[in-house]
Amino acid sequence: MTTSSTNAKPGRSLVTPGATPLKAGQVLEVVIEALDDEACGIATVGGMRLQVPFAAPGDVVRVAVEAVSRHRPQAVGRCLEVRRSGDARQAVDCTRSIQGGGRCGGCPALHLQGEVALEMKRQAVVQALTAEGLAASVSITPAPLSRGYRNRATFVAQVSRNGTRYLGGYAPRSHRVVRMTGCPVLLAPLPAVCEALEALMNRLEMPVHPEPLGLRYVLLRANAAGDVLVEGIWRGCDEPMLRAFAQEAMHIPGVAGVWASENASSGNAVRVSQARHLVGARHVTHRFGRVDLRLNAGVFAQLNADVASQMYVAAAAELGGASQIWDLYCGTGGLALNALARHPDAAVLGVDSVAESVALARAAARHQGFLQRARFEVLDLRDAVPDGPMPDAVVVNPPRRGLDAAVRDALASDDMGATTLLYMSCGPTGFARDAARLVSAGWRLEDVRAWDMLPGTAHVELLARFTRSRPR
Ligand SMILES: C[S@@+](CC[C@H](N)C(=O)[O-])C[C@H]1O[C@@H](n2cnc3c(N)ncnc32)[C@H](O)[C@@H]1O
Repeated sequence: MTTSSTNAKPGRSLVTPGATPLKAGQVLEVVIEALDDEACGIATVGGMRLQVPFAAPGDVVRVAVEAVSRHRPQAVGRCLEVRRSGDARQAVDCTRSIQGGGRCGGCPALHLQGEVALEMKRQAVVQALTAEGLAASVSITPAPLSRGYRNRATFVAQVSRNGTRYLGGYAPRSHRVVRMTGCPVLLAPLPAVCEALEALMNRLEMPVHPEPLGLRYVLLRANAAGDVLVEGIWRGCDEPMLRAFAQEAMHIPGVAGVWASENASSGNAVRVSQARHLVGARHVTHRFGRVDLRLNAGVFAQLNADVASQMYVAAAAELGGASQIWDLYCGTGGLALNALARHPDAAVLGVDSVAESVALARAAARHQGFLQRARFEVLDLRDAVPDGPMPDAVVVNPPRRGLDAAVRDALASDDMGATTLLYMSCGPTGFARDAARLVSAGWRLEDVRAWDMLPGTAHVELLARFTRSRPR
């Protein structure tokens, strides 16, 4: 065990370089020198990089080494005690969080001062670009609210040792399910609905995990008006139980509709089959920017509507002059519909591989009088890009991993007439990889703006603008 006094200066390790490499089980005291892009503290110990979740730069912490990489000089430790707080740390008032003495690890950046967390997110984008040999000025915009912003929650259904059924989330790097009742980042009334559903599960003596058949997960989606959709995800749906659950859930204040889907898989994916509507509302309506999106509990939608609204409006502002716009990976249509709301002469084609999302985008377009100018189609972009007239501008918002090869190739091709490309992304690394390929195909990376979509987490969302001259 290597230890030292607590009055060492931040920025250097308390362990001599060249000392014995770290070993799992070892307990030591270190000074945290930096943050990585997962909001973990980093110390250098004997030439090894020690990642310490829930630690902040300048902290002096006692750490238990939990895992050591066999391939790289790096290890992960568990913070046992903060012996001295550094300047980057702030007080945490959420008693459910690990940083506040609880067991929930859902907000790994909660203990970081606002400016420090923002800079960590901005740097994640800058460093991803630098790693690809690209330079761009990157700004970051804070979120309007750091609590009560999250419009969707996924809960794991569990039974405690004393037989009480509850809803929770996995503790970090574990299969232990921690109760999430009262989670402060959730939009009202999600915490109250979660508690009422737990009571209902107990009243109905509902079979839940780890029983072989029963409720596995619950998805909740809320809108700003407080309407909530519930989707129960079951293994081996027992129809009478499912119906009883749905009917009684409708009595919970705020619950507007209930859906169910089946998941008998042994993997970790939560939603593996199309959901069916059981009772009440089929969708909720949520304002994003200048339009109302239609959402059910299961489809993808940006979790922080205030920040997503800013991003959609900013993207729409960049599309002036475009008459044909493609929105690739359109989801329920947030970018496409905001572009139509802003530009009365523009037409949009939106595509996504999820039929439910496309149907909701189409319905929202119809309801708001955009259907003449909006087409939404189901298309798997791994296979092809849309046919038909080439756009003047393209908006893409792929999953974290980045663009599918077919999309990248189409954007790089001279046949693509577009001269503006907006790229919205939650994955700086995948984005930067794509950006490098686009730049080598003649696109100019004009600017990159980042937003703090999920305060308290390490998540950063970015909007990049590329231009190019019309290919001849
Ligand atoms: C980050 S979300 C963006 C959705 C939307 N732009 C928004 O702001 O809500 C990524 C979207 O890509 C879709 N997607 C993932 N893989 C796809 C593929 N191979 N082809 C088409 N769409 C895909 C998902 O269904 C999801 O709606």
